[in-house]
Amino acid sequence: MFRLLVTGAAGFIGSHTCVCLLGRGYEIIALDSYVNSSARIYKRVIEIFERKGINIQSKLKIIKGDLRDKECIQNIFKNALLEKKPIKGVMHFAGLKAVGESVENPLKYWEYNWLSAFNLISAMVEFECRNIVFSSSATIYGLSKKSTLDEKSVINPINPYGNTKAAIEILLSDVFKRKENKLNVANLRYFNPIGAHSSGLIGEDPKGIPNNIFPIITQVAVKKIDHLNIYGNDWPTKDGTGIRDYIHVMDLAEGHLKMLEFLIKNDSKFINLNLGTGIGTSVMELVEIFKTVNDVNIPYRFVDRRPGDIDEIIADNSLAKELINWIPKRNIYDMCRDGYNWQINNPGGLG
Ligand code: NAD
Ligand code: UFG
Repeated sequence: MFRLLVTGAAGFIGSHTCVCLLGRGYEIIALDSYVNSSARIYKRVIEIFERKGINIQSKLKIIKGDLRDKECIQNIFKNALLEKKPIKGVMHFAGLKAVGESVENPLKYWEYNWLSAFNLISAMVEFECRNIVFSSSATIYGLSKKSTLDEKSVINPINPYGNTKAAIEILLSDVFKRKENKLNVANLRYFNPIGAHSSGLIGEDPKGIPNNIFPIITQVAVKKIDHLNIYGNDWPTKDGTGIRDYIHVMDLAEGHLKMLEFLIKNDSKFINLNLGTGIGTSVMELVEIFKTVNDVNIPYRFVDRRPGDIDEIIADNSLAKELINWIPKRNIYDMCRDGYNWQINNPGGLG
């Protein structure tokens, strides 16, 4: 079985994907600097398997390291070779993701996101590792005239965070076009990942005050935050609040596994792929469903629109269905139930 490097493995999407990969028998090197996560998450990942009587500890090598440090990432590939277990594929989740912060501090985003990717891709080329699944984002589509977007939609990011993601896609494309030792590349453009593993052992655990709506709702539900600010009730949508395509993090994780296995089977591929459900949910609908499913109160107030927001963005996910037979299995009710289950079991996160 392949040995994989997972960067940003301690993060929200990385940790859930590790569960899928380990469950499938992959051996993982889990790299993270913990700038937005905690190493405690790995104990929980191990516990998910222990509860089923499976010991996966020998398959999970944990490394604290920062991808901005070129030597650190080179050493990981070098040591894997010395261990005679080379890294055959990379899932690259590591990066920063707060849109507002990226506007205030663009250089930080180019350093954490772009430089980290540059160092990683350089090391992959140097050590002849050929498969990469990259965490891109629907944010690269920016302001579009259409609300349902396929992969051919214009790339037009409107903030530094989105610019770094689009630039990494371009970098990967240039490296892919080399004549020799081509990379196999999948740029996965996520829509809005929410929810948690159904065990309640792992979930979204952002450091500080969350930026995204779902961790705010779960923290309001456990009274860690006193209310939700809803950014605008005058959008041109059915109820005036913003519409997004929320996707369960475990469906997303399973999409990564399918994508990786497709890359391994089909050589010399460069794929851009939307991962979303194709279903739009408004902020008001999300709040109401969350309240009903979990029987909790979510106090909210309407406030002004957030700069840079758009009214509606939904994935056309037909390519994912066609190419890797990926069909999301969990609906918005499952997302709300699992997300709350994680938060109620871990009201203060992992500390
Ligand atoms: P996250 O913050 O939970 O996870 C990212 C992880 O990367 C963190 O554990 C962080 O400590 C680590 N990290 C950051 N910079 C690093 C570096 N230089 N070296 C080593 N580790 C580093 O975020 P997430 O929600 O799991 O997102 C994972 C990826 O998916 C990110 O690249 C993000 O931009 C992208 N993405 C996320 C969303 C979303 O809404 N969650 C949507 C689209 C794309
Ligand atoms: N919202 C609120 N109140 C909040 C936070 C958000 O009303 O406190 C609203 C927003 O206005 C928007 C919706 O909830 O209508 C979703 O907002 P999020 O901040 O949760 O997510 P975004 O769609 O703005 O962006 C997210 C990630 C990006 C990613 C993008 C992909 O933050 O990294 O999804 O579509 F690129």
